[in-house]
Amino acid sequence: MHTVIVYESMYGNTREIAEAIAEGVHQADPGAAVDCLPVAEADADITRTADLLVVGGPTHMHGMSSGLSRRMAATAEEHKNGQEEKAAEAREAVEGQGLRAWFHDLPETESGTHAAAFDTRGDTPGSGGAAKGIAHRLSHHRYDVIVEPEGFIVEGSDGPLRTGELDRARSWGASLV
Ligand SMILES: Cc1cc2nc3c(=O)[nH]c(=O)nc-3n(C[C@H](O)[C@H](O)[C@H](O)COP(=O)(O)O)c2cc1C
Repeated sequence: MHTVIVYESMYGNTREIAEAIAEGVHQADPGAAVDCLPVAEADADITRTADLLVVGGPTHMHGMSSGLSRRMAATAEEHKNGQEEKAAEAREAVEGQGLRAWFHDLPETESGTHAAAFDTRGDTPGSGGAAKGIAHRLSHHRYDVIVEPEGFIVEGSDGPLRTGELDRARSWGASLV
């Protein structure tokens, strides 16, 4: 069994959730191969080999990120004191492609490969979520989305993750295999 986890992350929170999901998959199936990759490194050669494809990204403007929201995310962090690491991660992320562009290049799967979608988001009413759009795109590429889209909560726009969310991500990852 080969699990591929692909994430987009501007400030590192979605990356942390993706890594926790990878740990959960590994705990549930120690013999399984697990690759956890940022969108920039997840090319067709690797997604083609997946038995389970898990895709996640940050919620921007109630849905998936766009070129504009990604630039806004990078700019917002440039002006905060003491957030140099996050600003650098956002700068690097904005230079690469986001999930929308990545989906354009993702080949359709012929086999109905299992898949799941997640996002990170705030906890205010009507905050929306990116995971629904991600799940929709996975289905569109003929993946078999096996669970409801899942959201993991950040306390502020650039984090941190709410206490307990990493454990919840590990459990969610374990439940997928
Ligand atoms: C431009 C922008 C728009 C955002 N819009 C929303 C939103 O509509 N709903 C929400 O819950 N969070 C929103 N957020 C907060 C993000 O969800 C949060 O930055 C993200 O989960 C952090 O993940 P990351 O560290 O992986 O980038 C927004 C953040 C940015 C930068």
